[in-house]
Amino acid sequence: MNFFHLALVLLLLSFICAPVGSCIEQERLTLLRFLAELSPPHDNGQLAASWRNRTDCCTWEGIICDVDGAVTEILLASRGLEGRISSSLSELTSLSRLNLSYNSLSGGLPPELIFSGSIVVLDVSFNRLGGELQEVDSSSSDWPLQVLNISSNLFTGAFPSTTWEKMSNLVAINASNNSFTGHIPSSFCISSLSFAALDLCYNQFSGEIPAGIGKCSALRMLKAGHNNISGALPDDLFHATSLEYLSFPNNGLQGTIKLVIKLSNLVFLDLGGNSFSGKVPESIGELKKLEELRMDHNYISGELPSTLANCTNLAAIVLVSNKFTGDLAKVNFSNLPNLKTLDLCTNYFTGTIPASIYSCSNLTWLRLSFNKLHGQLPEETEKLKSLTFVSLSYNYFTNITGALHILKSLRNLTTLLIGGNFMHETIPQDETIHGLENLQVLGINDCALTGKIPSWLSKLKKLELLLLYNNQLSGPIPTWIKSLNYLKYVDLSNNSLTGEIPTSLTEMPMLRSDKIADHSDPRLFRMPVFVAPSLEYHTANAFPKMLNLGNNKFSGVIPMEIGQLKALLSLNLSFNNLHGEIPQSASNLKNLMVLDLSSNHLTGAIPSSLANLHFLSNFNISYNDLEGPVPITGQFSTFPTSSFAGNPKLCSPMLLHRCNSAGAAPVSTIPTKQYIDKVVFAIAFGMFFGVGVLYDQIVVSRFFG
Ligand SMILES: *[C@@H]1O[C@H](CO)[C@@H](O)[C@H](O)[C@H]1NC(C)=O
Ligand SMILES: *[C@@H]1O[C@H](CO)[C@@H](O)[C@H](O)[C@H]1NC(C)=O
Ligand SMILES: *[C@@H]1O[C@H](CO)[C@@H](O)[C@H](O)[C@H]1NC(C)=O
Ligand SMILES: *[C@@H]1O[C@H](CO)[C@@H](O)[C@H](O)[C@H]1NC(C)=O
Ligand SMILES: *[C@@H]1O[C@H](CO)[C@@H](O)[C@H](O)[C@H]1NC(C)=O
Ligand SMILES: *[C@@H]1O[C@H](CO)[C@@H](O)[C@H](O)[C@H]1NC(C)=O
Ligand SMILES: *[C@@H]1O[C@H](CO)[C@@H](O)[C@H](O)[C@H]1NC(C)=O
Ligand SMILES: *[C@@H]1O[C@H](CO)[C@@H](O)[C@H](O)[C@H]1NC(C)=O
Ligand SMILES: *[C@@H]1O[C@H](CO)[C@@H](O)[C@H](O)[C@H]1NC(C)=O
Ligand SMILES: *[C@@H]1O[C@H](CO)[C@@H](O)[C@H](O)[C@H]1NC(C)=O
Ligand SMILES: *[C@@H]1O[C@H](CO)[C@@H](O)[C@H](O)[C@H]1NC(C)=O
Ligand SMILES: *[C@@H]1O[C@H](CO)[C@@H](O)[C@H](O)[C@H]1NC(C)=O
Repeated sequence: MNFFHLALVLLLLSFICAPVGSCIEQERLTLLRFLAELSPPHDNGQLAASWRNRTDCCTWEGIICDVDGAVTEILLASRGLEGRISSSLSELTSLSRLNLSYNSLSGGLPPELIFSGSIVVLDVSFNRLGGELQEVDSSSSDWPLQVLNISSNLFTGAFPSTTWEKMSNLVAINASNNSFTGHIPSSFCISSLSFAALDLCYNQFSGEIPAGIGKCSALRMLKAGHNNISGALPDDLFHATSLEYLSFPNNGLQGTIKLVIKLSNLVFLDLGGNSFSGKVPESIGELKKLEELRMDHNYISGELPSTLANCTNLAAIVLVSNKFTGDLAKVNFSNLPNLKTLDLCTNYFTGTIPASIYSCSNLTWLRLSFNKLHGQLPEETEKLKSLTFVSLSYNYFTNITGALHILKSLRNLTTLLIGGNFMHETIPQDETIHGLENLQVLGINDCALTGKIPSWLSKLKKLELLLLYNNQLSGPIPTWIKSLNYLKYVDLSNNSLTGEIPTSLTEMPMLRSDKIADHSDPRLFRMPVFVAPSLEYHTANAFPKMLNLGNNKFSGVIPMEIGQLKALLSLNLSFNNLHGEIPQSASNLKNLMVLDLSSNHLTGAIPSSLANLHFLSNFNISYNDLEGPVPITGQFSTFPTSSFAGNPKLCSPMLLHRCNSAGAAPVSTIPTKQYIDKVVFAIAFGMFFGVGVLYDQIVVSRFFG
C-alpha cells in the first residue's frame, strides 16, 4: 500500500473517530496533502509515522499551533525530506514561519509561499529547489514576508526585481549559492524601511552595483562576493551608512576605495579579488569599528597610511598581492592590540619589520613573504607567543642563526616559512635550537645555505612537511629521519647531499603505511590555493606524500627496500650518481603518480612489473644506461618517448631503436575497463597536479610564500 492510499484511509478513518482536538480539521488535511507530495513516501516514513500516530495535528512533530488550533509554524529542517513542496501550504492562513532547510526537496518554490498572506519567515535553504522565481503579479504591497532564505539551491534565471517593491516588511534576503544571473535589483528598499541584510554571493550576477541600495537606511549586511559584478562602487552605496558588513570579494570591480570611509559603522570590509587601484585614503582611520580589512588581490598602491592605527579594533588586515610600497614602520601597530592576522604577502613593502608589531600579543598569523623587507629578526619577536603561522619567505632578511634562536621560543608555532632569505649563510648546527616542537611545516628553501642537515631537526617530532630545496647542503641524509613519525613530504632537491640513499629513509612511517591511499580523497584533490588564513589548519593534510632527492650527489644503488614506501605518490631521484638496476620492488609502490629516475647511471632492464603501477602518469628514466625492451602495456602506452631518451640500448616499437623479435615486448591492446580507469585517472591527476600547477608555482609561491 503506498503512502497516498494510506493517507486516504487515515483521512477517512479520521472522519469517523477523530476526537474534538485542538487541530483545525481543514489544516490537518492540508498538512496531509503536503506530506503526500513528499516522495517517495518511504523516505519520509519517520515523519509520516509520527504524523499518522495522532489525529491532533498540533501535536505532530515539527508543527506548532496557536491557542485556537491554527498552525503557525512548520519547522522541519534536516528531516531528510524529498519530493516537492506543496503549494497547499499557502492555505494555512495563520502560518507565519516555514523552515524546510537542510532537506533534499526538489522542484520549484511555489510563489504562493512567498506571496502568502501570513508567512513572515520562509527558509528553504540547502535543498535542491530549482527553476526561476517569478515576479509577483499583484498590486498589493502588504505582504508580511520579512525573511526569505533560498540560499544553496539550484535556482536559475534573473532574480526578481519588481517583486521586492511590493514587500514593505522585508528584513533579510539570502539567495546565495544559486545560479542567478542578470543585474542586482535596486528595489529592496523602495517600500521596506527595515531591510537589513542581503546576501547574493556565489551566483552569476553581472553588471554594476545598482544605485538605490543607498536608500536602504537600515541595511547592515551586504554580501555579493563571487559573482561577475563590474564597475566602480557607486556613490549612492555610501549613503547606506548603517552598513556594518560589506563584502564583494571575487568580482570585477574597479576604481578607488576612497569613499568607503563614509561607511563609518563598518565592522567587516572585504573587497579582495577585484581590480581596485589607487591608494588607501588617510581617512581610513575614521573607521573606528573596523575589525576586518580585506583588500587582497587588487592593484592598490602607495603607502599604508599611518592613520590605519586609528582603527583600533582591527583583528585582521589582509592586503595580499597588491602594489603597496613604503616602510611599514609608518603604522604604529601597538595601537592594534586585537590584531590576530596580518597578511601583507606579495607587495613591495620595504624597511625592517616594525618594532611596534611586537606589542600585538594576540597575533597568530603573520605573513610578510614576497616583499622587500630586510634586516635581522629582532629579539622582541619572542613576545608574539600566540603565533602559529609565520612566513617571512622571499625578502632580504639576514642571520638565520639569530632568527632560529628567536623563533624557537614560540611554542605555538606550527608553520614556519623563511625560505628565500639568508643567502649563502650557514645553517646552524647548534644543539641549543630546541622548542619548535609543535612545528608541522618547515620551509628553509631557496637560501643557498651551506652546512649539513642539522640534528636539531630530529627534535621536531610533529614535522609533516620539510622543505630544504635549492640550498647547498652537504653530507648524508641523517638516519634519524625515520624517527619523524609524521613526516610525509620531504623536498631536499638541488643540494649537494652525498652518500647512499639510506635505508632509514625507507623506514619512514608515513611513507610506509601500506594502507592504500584513497585517490578519491577530496582533501587530496582540493589542491590548496591558500589565500585565506582560515585554511591554515587544513594544509598539511592536503599535501601528497612525496620524496624529492633530485639534483644532489647521491651515489650507490637504489635500495631494494624502496619498495616499502607504499604510500608514496611522488618519488624523484633524478640528477644524482646512482648506478645499478631499477629494483623490481619499485613495482610495489602502488600509489605512485610520479617517478623520476632520469640522469643517473642506471643499468639493466626496465622491470616489466612497473606496468602494473596504475596511477603512474609521469615517468622519466631518460639519460641513464638502461637496456632491453620498454614495456608497452598499462600506463607505459601513455608515456612520451622523451621519458626514455638518452638510453641508446633501450628498444621499443616507439623508439628509433626497434627491438628484434626475440626481445620484443608483447603487444597488447588496452582493455576497455582499463581505458576507463585511465580517463578517470587522467582527470583526477589533472586536478591533483594540474590544478596545483605543481607545488612550485601555486603552493610554494602562494602558500609556502
Ligand atoms: C506512536 O505512538 C506510540 C504510542 O503512543 C509510541 O509508542 C510510538 O513511539 C509512536 N510512534 C512514532 C513514530 O511516533
Ligand atoms: C531554520 O532551521 C535551521 C536548522 O535548525 C536554522 O539553522 C535556521 O536558522 C532556521 N531558519 C530561520 C530563518 O530561523
Ligand atoms: C537563512 O537566512 C536567514 C536570514 O539571513 C537566517 O536567519 C537563517 O539562519 C538562514 N538559514 C540557515 C539554515 O542558515
Ligand atoms: C546565507 O546563507 C549562507 C549559507 O548558504 C550562509 O553562509 C550565510 O551566512 C547566509 N547569509 C546571511 C546574511 O544570513
Ligand atoms: C552551496 O550549496 C551546495 C549544495 O547545497 C553545498 O554543498 C555547498 O556547501 C554550498 N556552498 C556554500 C559556500 O555555502
Ligand atoms: C563577466 O562580465 C564581463 C563583462 O563585464 C564579460 O565580458 C564576461 O564574459 C563575464 N564573465 C562571466 C564568467 O560571465
Ligand atoms: C588618528 O588619531 C590621532 C591621535 O591618536 C589623531 O591625531 C588623528 O587626527 C587621528 N586621525 C584620524 C584620521 O582619525
Ligand atoms: C605607538 O603607540 C604607542 C601606544 O599608543 C606609543 O606608546 C608609542 O610611543 C607609539 N610609537 C611611535 C613610534 O609613535
Ligand atoms: C587577546 O585575546 C584575548 C581573547 O581573545 C583577549 O581577552 C585579550 O584582551 C586580547 N589581548 C589584547 C592585548 O587585546
Ligand atoms: C597556545 O596554544 C594553546 C593550545 O591551542 C592555547 O591554549 C594557548 O592559549 C596558546 N598560547 C598562546 C600564548 O596563544
Ligand atoms: C645573529 O643573531 C644573533 C642573535 O640575535 C646575534 O647574537 C649575532 O650576533 C647575530 N649575527 C650577526 C652576524 O649579526
Ligand atoms: C639550485 O639552488 C641554487 C641555490 O643553491 C640556485 O641558485 C639554483 O637556481 C637552483 N637550481 C634550480 C634548477 O632551481
